[in-house]
Amino acid sequence: MTKPSFTPRVFSGIKPSGGLHLGNYLGAIKRFVQMQGGEFETIYCVVDLHAITVWQNPAELRDGTREVAAGFIASGIDPETSILFNQSQVPEHAELAWIFNCVARVGWMNRMTQFKDKAGANAEAVSLGLYAYPALMAADILIYHATHVPVGEDQKQHVELTRDIAAKFNHDFKVDFFPLSEPVIGGPATRVMNLRDGTKKMSKSGESDMERINMTDDADSIAKKFRKAKTDPAPLPDTFEALEGRPEARNLVDIYAALADITPEEVIAQYAGAGWGVFKPALADLAVDKLAPISTEMARLMADKAEIDRILARGAERARDIAAPILRQTYDIVGLLGK
Ligand code: AMP
Ligand code: TRP
Repeated sequence: MTKPSFTPRVFSGIKPSGGLHLGNYLGAIKRFVQMQGGEFETIYCVVDLHAITVWQNPAELRDGTREVAAGFIASGIDPETSILFNQSQVPEHAELAWIFNCVARVGWMNRMTQFKDKAGANAEAVSLGLYAYPALMAADILIYHATHVPVGEDQKQHVELTRDIAAKFNHDFKVDFFPLSEPVIGGPATRVMNLRDGTKKMSKSGESDMERINMTDDADSIAKKFRKAKTDPAPLPDTFEALEGRPEARNLVDIYAALADITPEEVIAQYAGAGWGVFKPALADLAVDKLAPISTEMARLMADKAEIDRILARGAERARDIAAPILRQTYDIVGLLGK
């Protein structure tokens, strides 16, 4: 059988649980924008069905969904060039996820490190959805036959599972129907760390707001958080390699590089020997310069929720035009009767 050729297509998603932070921006959204308008068809999704794998207040979920959409648009996602929508408006995701629940093996799910981290000692009490989460993520990607998936480092294992599911489906049904999607993980900010502890990743949950930069923070808070970020006493070294074993220093250099679109080596070349009294204000200025216009635009967009809802509904229609025929063919391959 000849190999099908798949349209170069990008899919990625962000959960509307808690606010967007600098890790989401540098690890994900900024790179979504870079992939737009070139060789790829780009599909970006606010994954509300993933958010409810842990409890969400309904009113906050609705607004959080709009806020992530506003964050996408304010960062440069054009809802005409890309397809932008929220997951629950395209029921094909959940329908394909059921098929994938029957393809993925329990042993595969048991190896997922994100589940182990999130469930912790409490694994008996978390939702069944949290456990099945990676099969829904595989469905998000494969319902569009997406070939490329830009994500932060923490999602690599889930994209690999998506490839395993695609391969097992193709093998079991003797078809070449789903592509083996490639994770796209690159640049200096694939893992942005917590500003108070450079060994933990920056995340939406966490005790102190000082440990993360939120995309809605104003200029003063951004500057204050970088000024107060934890560091060691030594100045910046002469080589990037010498940052080994200095996680907080390395993180701030990586953040600078990602914001300035240069390499960490170039940051070091510019600031070798500088103390934190020089580097932190420079980083704060750069961050304010890049992020303040985005937070201002997010606030402007959030003032017209009906417009955001219209954009998401229109995006969902366009997404369904791609997803519905792929689901229909999947059902047919599996032997589920229908027209
Ligand atoms: P989430 O907020 O978990 O829905 O994540 C959305 C996207 O942001 C995914 O592609 C994550 O890999 C990415 N991401 C989340 N936190 C970070 C971080 N601290 N550094 C880099 N990327 C991140
Ligand atoms: N699981 C991802 C996260 O926690 C979010 C996500 C859901 C996603 N579906 C996706 C990312 C599909 C890429 C592609 O960050």
